[in-house]
Amino acid sequence: TDISKIRNFSIIAHIDHGKSTLADRLIQRTGGLTEREMSAQVLDNMEIEKERGITIKAQTVRLEWKGHVLNLMDTPGHVDFAYEVSRSLAACEGALLVVDAAQGVEAQTLANVYQSIEHDHEIVPVINKIDLPAAEPEKVRAEIEDVIGLDASNAVLASAKSGIGIDEILDAIVERIPAPKGDADAPLKAMLVDSWYDPYLGVVILVRVMEGTLKRGQQIKFMQAGTTHLIDRVGCFRPKIEQLPDLGPGEIGFITAQIKEIAQARVGDTLTDAKRSAAEPLEGFKEVQPVVFCGLFPVDANDFEKLRESISKLRLNDASFSFEMETSAALGFGYRCGFLGLLHLEIIQERLTREYDLDLITTAPSVVYQIELTHGGGHIELHNPADMPDPNKIESIAEPWIEATIYVPDEYLGSILKLCQDRRGIQKNLTYVSGRAQATYELPLNEVVFDFYDRLKSISRGYASFDYHQIGYREGDLVKMSVLVNAEPVDALSMIVHRSTAESRGRGMCERLKDLIPRHLFKIPIQAAIGGKVIARETIAAMRKDVTAKCYGGDISRKRKLLDKQKEGKKRMREYGSVQIPQEAFIAALRMG
Ligand code: GTP
Repeated sequence: TDISKIRNFSIIAHIDHGKSTLADRLIQRTGGLTEREMSAQVLDNMEIEKERGITIKAQTVRLEWKGHVLNLMDTPGHVDFAYEVSRSLAACEGALLVVDAAQGVEAQTLANVYQSIEHDHEIVPVINKIDLPAAEPEKVRAEIEDVIGLDASNAVLASAKSGIGIDEILDAIVERIPAPKGDADAPLKAMLVDSWYDPYLGVVILVRVMEGTLKRGQQIKFMQAGTTHLIDRVGCFRPKIEQLPDLGPGEIGFITAQIKEIAQARVGDTLTDAKRSAAEPLEGFKEVQPVVFCGLFPVDANDFEKLRESISKLRLNDASFSFEMETSAALGFGYRCGFLGLLHLEIIQERLTREYDLDLITTAPSVVYQIELTHGGGHIELHNPADMPDPNKIESIAEPWIEATIYVPDEYLGSILKLCQDRRGIQKNLTYVSGRAQATYELPLNEVVFDFYDRLKSISRGYASFDYHQIGYREGDLVKMSVLVNAEPVDALSMIVHRSTAESRGRGMCERLKDLIPRHLFKIPIQAAIGGKVIARETIAAMRKDVTAKCYGGDISRKRKLLDKQKEGKKRMREYGSVQIPQEAFIAALRMG
């Protein structure tokens, strides 16, 4: 392809502002798919991805418009996947900034726009959903200028849903976004933008060629991983898969090279020619590390083998989550898993439950702590509260901190600031733009991983948005809080907390467990403790009557039904000593009030 006719762009949008709908429209308008194939959203639908295989997993689509090649690159929208986003942006020269005409600019949009500006992108603002009665395109146009500082006078007014403004968007991409640059004769330099496992093709690698040319049959080298591979396929997605003889500078496409494991094809790596190597790899390679850990245990101990297989399969397609076997006194065999963030954790947990039909218990999510031991005992990285060393062996503990940007309508600001304060937040900045506040806080990640996002959304009725990045480790007065039910420690519920918040967390936990654990024939004490010291306590009173007592002994079938129901309930319970705890109690207990 003539490099001057190439345009590479991504779409920046806050969740629900219409990114997928617009992408589908662009594909449809340029003839990539028929109306019938468009019936469902193409770029990010998991179920459809499965049905149609590789064409849909495509993170990028090649479109043709008026003699130009337009590569539309999909980017994950959530903060958990910030690094993937940054690599996708590095593969483009421009971006469509999609803003909902009724909702306006939100925090996540902001963070992504600034990233895009840092990559020197040409940004084309698109004000979407102008068909809505509540649309205020002029207000949003002003907001884009005031808040982001972008010229929005030539923003395209569109409705992805009704097909308004689609041709104008395609024209704007051709006219305003610059063509890529690159020398076809230079030694090959291509960036690994994404990789995934396909059952038929093995590992598929999405690349952006910067310099030189990628060809079928070429021997290539991964500069970070240090491995070499023979390319056996080169191609692109339209979004259907199409093989090509080669990819020149400025082009985006895929290769396969008989790579068996996704872990060998890491996002951000540089591909070069094995014989004629580039002198330097591309900048910005970063190894992604899981930041949130939790244990996953099968409710039914017999499902352990199934869990092992399912986790291994998931991992084939996601090199960013880690797992290793874990045994828990109370929960038996399971896995300690590491994730990029809470959303990532939820996605994996959801897929295990839904796609692999597993009933799971998830232990309290925990961040990674850095511990210095006394008397030169060395350093530990703590992934599991259960492995916390004895407090008198600990010299110091450090926890990860983040900087969060919260964007919220004025009326909810007070309660949002209080939430941040309660979570040990340090305010760094507070500004107001057209009826909205933008607050910047430093917060310990530990205080954010449980339910911060849910709380933020419920306090602000969904209007607040939130974005964060890590800013390093800081020492803190951190202790392990254990939860005891009937004097037995329940390891799944133990967690590392800051001393200043331990008592209120402990009290909250005991109160919730009191409501969640059904009554037994005996009295059950519930305690939260630090070391040997009890900091909170509740008691579940003993059950007074047999459940069947109210049947007056007459109706046998009704009595049997009740007993069956009880039995059914028991299967979903975990036994601690002689106390039965329903599975739901674990998850519910971890949600803070
Ligand atoms: P995520 O995939 O969750 O990140 O969202 P997204 O930004 O991709 O948004 P998506 O395309 O899924 O659209 C969100 C909702 O807005 C859907 O219900 C769409 O049908 C609707 N929507 C998208 N574009 C328009 C539009 O132009 N007008 C109206 N009225 N609704 C739209």
